[in-house]
Amino acid sequence: MPEHFFDLVVRNARVVTAADVFSCDIGIRDGRIAALGTDLPPGARDIDAAGRYVTPGGVDAHCHLDQPHAAPIRMADDFDTGTRSAVCGGTTTVIPFAAQQKGQSLRAAVDDYHRRAGDKAHIDYSFHLIVSDPTPTVLHEELPALIAEGYTSFKIYMTYDDLKLDDGQILDVLEVARQRGAMAMVHAENADCIDWLTQRLEAAGRTAPRFHAHARPMLVEREATHRAISLSQLVDVPILIVHVSGKDAVEQIRWARGLGLKIYAETCPQYLFLTAEDLGTEGEHAYLGAKCVCSPPPRDKSNQDVIWNGLADGLFTVFSSDHAPYRFEGEDGKHPGGEAVAFRHIPNGIPGLETRMPLLWSEGVLAGRLTPQKFVELTATNPAKAYGLHPRKGTIAVGSDADLVIWDERELTLTNSHLHHAVDYTPYEGMQLSAWPAITLARGRVAWDAAGFHASPGRGQFLTCGEPTLAPRRA
Ligand code: URP
Ligand code: ZN
Ligand code: ZN
Repeated sequence: MPEHFFDLVVRNARVVTAADVFSCDIGIRDGRIAALGTDLPPGARDIDAAGRYVTPGGVDAHCHLDQPHAAPIRMADDFDTGTRSAVCGGTTTVIPFAAQQKGQSLRAAVDDYHRRAGDKAHIDYSFHLIVSDPTPTVLHEELPALIAEGYTSFKIYMTYDDLKLDDGQILDVLEVARQRGAMAMVHAENADCIDWLTQRLEAAGRTAPRFHAHARPMLVEREATHRAISLSQLVDVPILIVHVSGKDAVEQIRWARGLGLKIYAETCPQYLFLTAEDLGTEGEHAYLGAKCVCSPPPRDKSNQDVIWNGLADGLFTVFSSDHAPYRFEGEDGKHPGGEAVAFRHIPNGIPGLETRMPLLWSEGVLAGRLTPQKFVELTATNPAKAYGLHPRKGTIAVGSDADLVIWDERELTLTNSHLHHAVDYTPYEGMQLSAWPAITLARGRVAWDAAGFHASPGRGQFLTCGEPTLAPRRA
């Protein structure tokens, strides 16, 4: 018998799961939760949570790390800096995207992405696929084989020239999702409307960052969301609409749910904390708006309220960061060489891996908009279920990985110099928060605490995914 059965005991925890809040000790052995109970015997190490909330480590099921780009654009975060940043903000599992380029085999994209991950990750990770070229080989051979190997989710785009699929292609890949039990994620914006509007804005000289929002009004998201729902209904397969920004898309999703369709939805911090005004003003500082260019764009205050309501009432299934780590300064980012470029050329996406959990805990739970259980459901349990990682990930239960966040309730001012990503700004600079993780445990190891970040490159394991378990696939 070893001297200590537990490697670590977290004592006096106020444990939160998607279902309950209860007080107990958490006994950890070999990286997993081995016991939940009171008066557990001492571990090799004990941490006193002193009655503070302890939640499952976050599962960020939508983030982009080291995704290949045409030069000079480059993502600043790789699997080292991205997972470092994640764990310092309470996220212990990430699911970035192995993106197929048009003309590339899907298998080659996955192999390349494994090389990029290498032995850099500090926390566990899985891959979604991005299917941009659904050739017969992809549809009939590569995609089914990859799903069987544990790549059970893929994203499809209705916009972006280098990624978008037409409706027939979307139906083809949804059919594979249905046959093989995979989860399809959909980026729903109407590409032709965006092109048409962009051309007219450019012809009128309206190229500053704020016109990005004019090129992508809510109706282009509404139309594409409705079309994605219809395509999913035709094939009779669930889909998950990613990064929903406001009322128009929300109404479509509510309508579909009312019909009994399995339409899942994701939203992100930018739709709670930014508005189109953050895309800049007129005048000499207009270029700064590039920092908040993402798609769909942030809307207005009333739409932020719609998104909060959707988080509280179950419309949204998951809350992800959509971390897209482009630097502002430098040759490779949003303001290349200090030049203001037309909004069409600003890489879309903003950083948010490290801030996702503290923002929602502060402004959702501590501000009284969400219960602690709803927070856990949205940030950990449902993403783990949607992508086949539950119950290993996303909950606090005997047998689950010991991925835990002990929360510290304290006032702080968010500033980029405190963050651990490789991006040179945060869109949330100067925001007042009321909480940050005191300690993050990743498979039982302290990865973040008062002393800072404790690196362990290569300790993060690649996880294959099972079938989604949000709901039975068939009624
Ligand atoms: O603007 C965004 N959302 N960029 C990241 C890529 C994507 O579409 O999710
Ligand atoms: Zn997208
Ligand atoms: Zn994204």
